[in-house]
Amino acid sequence: MSDTVHRSDLDLPLLHRGKVRDVYLVNDDELLMVASDRVSAFDVVLPQPVPHKGEVLTLITAWWLEQLESELPHHIIAVHPDAIIKRHPELEASRDVWARRAMLVHKTDPVLVECVVRGYISGSAWKEYKQSGTLAGEKLAEGLQESQRLDPAIFSPATKAQEGEHDENITYGQMKEILGDELSETLKDLSMRVYGYGRDVAEKSDIILADTKFEFGHKNGQLMIIDEVLTPDSSRFWPKESYGIGRGQPSLDKQPVRDWLETLDWDKRPPAPDLPDEVVHAASERYKDVFKRLTGTALAEYVPPLFGDDR
Ligand SMILES: Nc1ncnc2c1ncn2[C@@H]1O[C@H](COP(=O)(O)OP(=O)(O)O)[C@@H](O)[C@H]1O
Ligand SMILES: [Mg+2]
Repeated sequence: MSDTVHRSDLDLPLLHRGKVRDVYLVNDDELLMVASDRVSAFDVVLPQPVPHKGEVLTLITAWWLEQLESELPHHIIAVHPDAIIKRHPELEASRDVWARRAMLVHKTDPVLVECVVRGYISGSAWKEYKQSGTLAGEKLAEGLQESQRLDPAIFSPATKAQEGEHDENITYGQMKEILGDELSETLKDLSMRVYGYGRDVAEKSDIILADTKFEFGHKNGQLMIIDEVLTPDSSRFWPKESYGIGRGQPSLDKQPVRDWLETLDWDKRPPAPDLPDEVVHAASERYKDVFKRLTGTALAEYVPPLFGDDR
């Protein structure tokens, strides 16, 4: 397999090229979601890819979904490259480009609300709290400090932004107006449970899973979790050893990139500056470390799980 893919160009109809994923239509029901090694910082995609990053995102998602399978319906059909090729032999020719970074998934109609759960107050939630004492429109206790743990965790939905725009936080009441009471309650309940599980598991590896974003979709009336799950791109992963309240936290994965960018006189608008090799290398090592620390297995030794009938 290739260590680095900046942009995949498979011979399949491209449904979507996001900041990170190239999503292809394999047939009417199935998508091949290829996680590239593109990295964004301050919401801008950087010119240099970070080796192994896409592989880490895809395999962390598979690692969680295998554990959660009995209680959480999900979109993965196959991740193991042999299992993907068994279903779609024509993908053998491009195997090097997508192996271990791609998931074959059910094509769903995505729910248009992103389900964010926050177990620590940070980022846009900290901003809102400082301004108005609220989070997702609801009053929080007074006197909270930045990065403080929230018990219980708080569900704070957001609308899915169109390309190039930022997601917008909404209240749970607004979510109910968009999706109805029943679906909103189901999504909130699932999100809280999955986050709670993830927070506990990550903590055993000295990783603080500060917050995360889930997406869900429907296929033939069946609700399932889609996209990536509890990865460093969809969540804030903080190293426990440097955690402290009353300030921002370094991120476990992107910190070398962010630190280096902060030394520059760059207005954080595209185009982003070129990253030196050492910074790219340090970032790549970080992603591999996160994988090892969380799963207990070195990335190179990890065998992707089998799902469904392949087991
Ligand atoms: N099973 C699925 N069915 C339909 N759409 C999906 C599924 N899983 C993920 N997606 C969508 O594919 C896209 C993934 O690409 P990504 O690069 O993460 O995009 P973005 O820059 O929008 O985050 C997201 O828009 C996500 O909603
Ligand atoms: Mg995404």
